[in-house]
Amino acid sequence: MQPLKCALRTGQTLRQSPLSSVIGQILRTYRTTNHLNAEVYPELEKQQDDRLQRDFSSRLAAGPTFQHFLRNASVPQEKSDSSATVEDPPPYLTPEALLGRGRKVYLETYGCQMNVNDAEIAWAILQKSGYLRTNTLHEADVILLVTCSIREKAEQAIWNRLKRLKFIKARRLRSQVPLRIGILGCMAERLKEEILHREKLVDIVAGPDAYRDLPRLLSLADSGQRSANVLLSLEETYADIMPVQTSSNATSAFVSIMRGCDNMCSYCIVPFTRGRERSRPIASILEEVKKLSQQGLKEVTLLGQNVNSYQDKSEMQFNNAMPTHLSRGFSENYKTKKGGLRFADLLDQVSRVDPEMRIRFTSPHPKDFPDEVLQLIQERNNICKQIHLPAQSGSNRVLELMRRGYTREAYLDLIHHIRESVSGVNLSSDFIAGFCGETEDDHLQTLSLLQEVRYNVGFLFAYSMRQKTRAYHRLQDDVPEEVKQRRLAELIAAFREGATEANMAMVGHMQLILVEGPSKRSTTELCGRNDGNIRVIFPDIEMGDGIDCRGLIRAQPGDYVLVKITSSNSQSLKGVALCRTSLQEYSAHC
Ligand code: 5AD
Ligand code: SF4
Repeated sequence: MQPLKCALRTGQTLRQSPLSSVIGQILRTYRTTNHLNAEVYPELEKQQDDRLQRDFSSRLAAGPTFQHFLRNASVPQEKSDSSATVEDPPPYLTPEALLGRGRKVYLETYGCQMNVNDAEIAWAILQKSGYLRTNTLHEADVILLVTCSIREKAEQAIWNRLKRLKFIKARRLRSQVPLRIGILGCMAERLKEEILHREKLVDIVAGPDAYRDLPRLLSLADSGQRSANVLLSLEETYADIMPVQTSSNATSAFVSIMRGCDNMCSYCIVPFTRGRERSRPIASILEEVKKLSQQGLKEVTLLGQNVNSYQDKSEMQFNNAMPTHLSRGFSENYKTKKGGLRFADLLDQVSRVDPEMRIRFTSPHPKDFPDEVLQLIQERNNICKQIHLPAQSGSNRVLELMRRGYTREAYLDLIHHIRESVSGVNLSSDFIAGFCGETEDDHLQTLSLLQEVRYNVGFLFAYSMRQKTRAYHRLQDDVPEEVKQRRLAELIAAFREGATEANMAMVGHMQLILVEGPSKRSTTELCGRNDGNIRVIFPDIEMGDGIDCRGLIRAQPGDYVLVKITSSNSQSLKGVALCRTSLQEYSAHC
């Protein structure tokens, strides 16, 4: 960036240099200063320079003006609105070159719900650029994998998938448009151009903050350049992109409220792949939730790496908001956040949009559960009484090594406090088996925590060392793989025992179930979810319409049904349907 700024400031270099070197300078500078800093695969660089310079010479007359150049040169790296990529293309890519021209995109998503949401955002951007969507791999002109890096296994799945895609690409007929393959998301961010080196079939690599750049990256691929954009942003929340819901009969949707994470748990790659924490302005979240309600959706899950650390400072008056507190006994490892609208404000406003719409949120950190959040969950009928409290370990020594910012005792106090504050709450958690330095005694403490809490839902993982993390730099991955697997199996067994007991407590009770559709196992049964997000199966029979039975109906996806639970196991419940009802009618009567 520096030499060009100099040139422009003095106004000399550009006039005095031979044309080719000026163009070369502009191209090099363009790569480092322009909106999204493409990192171009180096082997191709010289070839590209030659071609682009030729191309550039022929376009120079109509090419970039000084005005255009100055505008781009002064764009800061982190942009608040990078939608200019689509509306204001660089001069050597015409607006037409950015268009999909009916090419079909196949999106394959790996990993967490954030990735599902990211796929919808990526698709919304490409759809706007004239691409079409296909759900059939063999019809695709562009295959995009939205990837996950959280554990080694997740990445291995992508490498294996790429091997399969190699055959499809090789078999592509010359008469067809060339097949493009792209890697999006966390693995793109972590491995960057290494993916282009290792798998020559990959054409584009786009990190989680670079989806607006997809049309440009794809059009660069058309001109023979394999390219990557892995620039992380401090501001990108895709607030103005309305994700396209992929399933037409969906009853529920995910709404992204924040991105990134500042917590830096020592085992976790997320802060490195998804960048710093930033929250989407409340106005755009409310707008999306209202649209989903108008479309008839009955459930919204607020999404983020750290949802309850939400902080919207987008408007001046928000900074007068009352400060919130951490959960009792929790220390924040990093600087505390002041001002702005916080998670309780967001929950309050989102839950007022539609009293028939269930609100869930994931994934929270246990440190951010102040009483105002718990009170709201207890008070509002449409905020589900389901809380995910990732514990990770039951041993203080390991929690310290993980830099979780709480002790076992503080965590258990929080569990008791939540159970006192939110009646009938369902709890879920994440645990890691075999973290660095974990002894048999540490493991026993994790087992005892699982036995003590008895979660309804659990996500349990064997530790997988990730490069860049604090653990990678400072700790030893010293628990042998077979020990990790044995401990994981023991944690799973303890979790199942607890969940079986916790779910059994629901037998004989009436629950409000949001119907999702026919059960996978039997067409004569319906499947839905209770308030605690546990799957409930019940016979698809005629039932009364309303608690006061205003007629007979068959329940449809999106209906609320009152179900009496008759049996349970560690994962699901079974019951009999009593009547169709509504969230408000149920809350008034039951
Ligand atoms: N190894 C195993 N599990 C991990 N998780 C995060 N990083 C790792 C890792 N390196 C788990 C944590 C987190 C969940 C999303 O994934 O339990 O809460
Ligand atoms: Fe990873 Fe910890 Fe952030 Fe969760 S809170 S995303 S585990 S760093």
